[in-house]
Amino acid sequence: MQVKPDNCTIIIFGASSDLAARKLFPSLYELALWGNLPDDYHIIGVGRAALSHEEFRSFMQTKMAGIFPDSVRDEAAYAAFIARIAYVRLDLEEPDGYHALYHEIMTTAAAVCRCANLLFYLATPPSFAPVIVRNLQRADLGEKDGCMDGWRKIIVEKPYGRDLQTARELNSVIGEVFSENRVFRIDHYLGKETVQNIMVFRFSNGIFEPLWNRHHIANVTITIAEDFGIRDRGAFYEEAGLLRDIMQNHALQLLAAVAMEPPVDLSADAVRDEKAKVLRSIRPFTTESVDHSVVLGQYDGYRSEKNVASDSTVETFAAIKFFIDNWRWKDVPFYVKAGKNLAATVTEIVITFQCPPQNYFCPAESCSYTANQVILRIQPEETIAIKFGAKRPGESVITDPVFMKFDYKTSFTEAGLTPYHRLLLDALAGEQMNFIRQDSVEYSWAIIDSIRQAVGSKLPEGYPAHSHGPESVDKIYG
Ligand code: BG6
Repeated sequence: MQVKPDNCTIIIFGASSDLAARKLFPSLYELALWGNLPDDYHIIGVGRAALSHEEFRSFMQTKMAGIFPDSVRDEAAYAAFIARIAYVRLDLEEPDGYHALYHEIMTTAAAVCRCANLLFYLATPPSFAPVIVRNLQRADLGEKDGCMDGWRKIIVEKPYGRDLQTARELNSVIGEVFSENRVFRIDHYLGKETVQNIMVFRFSNGIFEPLWNRHHIANVTITIAEDFGIRDRGAFYEEAGLLRDIMQNHALQLLAAVAMEPPVDLSADAVRDEKAKVLRSIRPFTTESVDHSVVLGQYDGYRSEKNVASDSTVETFAAIKFFIDNWRWKDVPFYVKAGKNLAATVTEIVITFQCPPQNYFCPAESCSYTANQVILRIQPEETIAIKFGAKRPGESVITDPVFMKFDYKTSFTEAGLTPYHRLLLDALAGEQMNFIRQDSVEYSWAIIDSIRQAVGSKLPEGYPAHSHGPESVDKIYG
């Protein structure tokens, strides 16, 4: 049986945010229902709205009703969960409010002393993170505030900063208040079963790893496509854009998982060392290289979305050819494409192997039609397929591509945890393997900054909704 986390209080900043209502509170309820939370836990929502505890509880219940309708709810467990929620109203930038939070923690929590175990969760826009952390420190709520018995940890949502400089500043502010082993930079992609399986697939099987390099692999394609737009997140997107929202984190983390060396062991730092090395080895972009290796796009109609400027130049699509300058991957292109409002919703990684040296069976000049591929489908299907050539039945010897397929749904009956279940449990337990380390965040920003600088003021290209992206996307494959 899994060891239960220590008794603790979870403090969620941005308590009325979409993320809190759709993911954090529902995940915590389910963890409580399944007996995964500590025996004595409390949750304090922190927000700007002037709400009483009771008003916040009803607000959250209304939000969660869509996810857990009466018919599927365990009423007793639900009522017990809701009763453990409290609320503190504060202005994030105003230090005085944090004393009220301190007071609430000490009275609400099982904590009878100031050394309660505290997990802070910043589900707020990235620009608020430094001021929140400073104010926690001022209110004696930081880890380094002389508390010897209880632990204090902090989870920070992505995007972590908005470029290398702000990420460094944030790392430095957080570093003054929390030790690195208490900082959990969350990227929910790392909590996905299929993403965690990349490492298992590569390193628990003997047959792939000897081929997993520049001598056998022609290219790697990573796609994160969504068939919907920015929904009601206009204000966020205007600040972030796709490079910050998806490329800097989800996409580069997938790339690191595919390209990393085997770790020394499975400790958090051994795994994260290898990912950091990949990110550090990505070739920076220049004004010359972006011309043939970066295409940014904006879907038609984006400028009419709510809270979006009518002359916005924010990108909602990016296709980028990366190179990793190390011994394993030198000169192997990694094509990474991500976008909103594309033809389909799919996240997948395709590893394409080199064609055999002689082409006996293909009618065409090139055998690329049947080139071997390993296709790691991250979502919505959770599958791995291996593509190879097989003889088409009949008199002629012609090869057709066929697939061998593994599907999580048919091979396993256990239901997996969702990313937020898993990552919340990991943070409570202090397990950092699936959180991003300081150095990796900075290496990833350095790459994104180099793209932004090299692109300069060039405008993103338009593309029709539900298409495959801008017309010129193919130029990166040249
Ligand atoms: C979030 C991005 O981090 O991930 C969203 O901010 C994106 O723009 C979402 O839609 C995709 O995650 P998932 O797990 O829902 O596919």
